[in-house]
Amino acid sequence: MEITSQTGLMALIGDPVGHSKSPDMMNRAFQEMGLSYVYVAFQVKPHELRQAVEGLRALGVKGFNVTIPHKVEVMETLDELDASAREIGAVNMVMQTEGKWVGFNTDGMGYLRSLKEELNPDLKRARVILLGAGGAARAVGYALAQAGVESLTIANRTVEKAEALAEHLGRFTKTDAVPLGQAERAVKEATLVVNTTSVGMHPHVDETPIPIEWMHEGQIASDLIYVPRRTAWLQGAEARGAHIHAGMGMLIHQAAIAIEHWFQRKAPVPIMKEALIQSLSQPNAEL
Ligand code: ATR
Repeated sequence: MEITSQTGLMALIGDPVGHSKSPDMMNRAFQEMGLSYVYVAFQVKPHELRQAVEGLRALGVKGFNVTIPHKVEVMETLDELDASAREIGAVNMVMQTEGKWVGFNTDGMGYLRSLKEELNPDLKRARVILLGAGGAARAVGYALAQAGVESLTIANRTVEKAEALAEHLGRFTKTDAVPLGQAERAVKEATLVVNTTSVGMHPHVDETPIPIEWMHEGQIASDLIYVPRRTAWLQGAEARGAHIHAGMGMLIHQAAIAIEHWFQRKAPVPIMKEALIQSLSQPNAEL
C-alpha cells in the first residue's frame, strides 16, 4: 500500500508490544479491504498512558487497541465505556465516536464467534467450567454467561478470585466456584472446559492446567493459548475423544470485531488468519 497524506493511523498500545501479532493481522486486513490505513504498535510505559491516549486523540485517530498492562487503567482516560467493557472491567479496543473516546472489550465476543465458527455447540445446554479467574476468564465468562449457558463453574488456584467472578456472573446464569485442584467432578460433568490460565503456554509447553485423565469423549476442550497452536492439554483431550478449540480463533475474531466497529464493514477473517499463521511460523518470531 502506498502511504500518502490521506493515510490514517490505527494503533496498539501496550508494554511490551514487540511480540504482538496484531499489526500483521490488521495491516493485511486493511490492505485486503482497500483501506488507506496503517496499524502501528507503540510501547507505552504505564506512567505515560494518559499522555499517549491524549496524543492519539490530538492526532485524530479513529481508534486503537489496548493490551497488557493497560487494559484496566486505560478506562480512566476514556469518556465512555460500553456494556462489555463495564462488565468485564477491562478495555481492549477504543473507538472515537462524535469526539468521544468509547472503550469496548471485544475479547469475549471474539471468543464466542470463534467457538461458534469452529464447533457451534448448543450453548443453551452447555455446562461450562472455566479454568482460571483472571482477565481472560472475565471476558470469556461474561460472553458465555450472556449467551445463556446452562451453568458456569469457575475453577481457580486462588479460590477467592473464582468466588468473586462466580458471584459477578451469577446475575446472568447459574454459577459456582471451586479450587482448581478439586475440580475433577465439575470437569467430568462439564460439556465445555475452557482453559483461560497461562498453563501450557510457550515455553512451558509440557504443562497442563488439569490432568488430561479428567477429560473424556464428547466434551469440548477449549484453550485460549495460541502459542503453541495446540497445547499439550488440547492434544491429550483430543486423544481421549474430546472436540478441541484452540486460541487462535479468538485472537483473530477479537481483531475482526474491532475492525467492524471502526470501519462499519465486515473484516476479511480468512486473510487475517493467513497473516497470523504466517507471522507465528516465522523462525525469528519473538514469542
Ligand atoms: P489473564 O489476563 O491472561 O487472564 P491474569 O489476570 O494474570 O491473566 O490471570 C492468570 C490466571 O491464570 C489466573 O487465574 C491464575 O491463577 P491465580 O488467580 O491463582 O493466580 C492462573 N494461573 C497462572 N499460573 C498458574 C499456574 N501455574 N497454575 C494454576 N493457575 C495459574
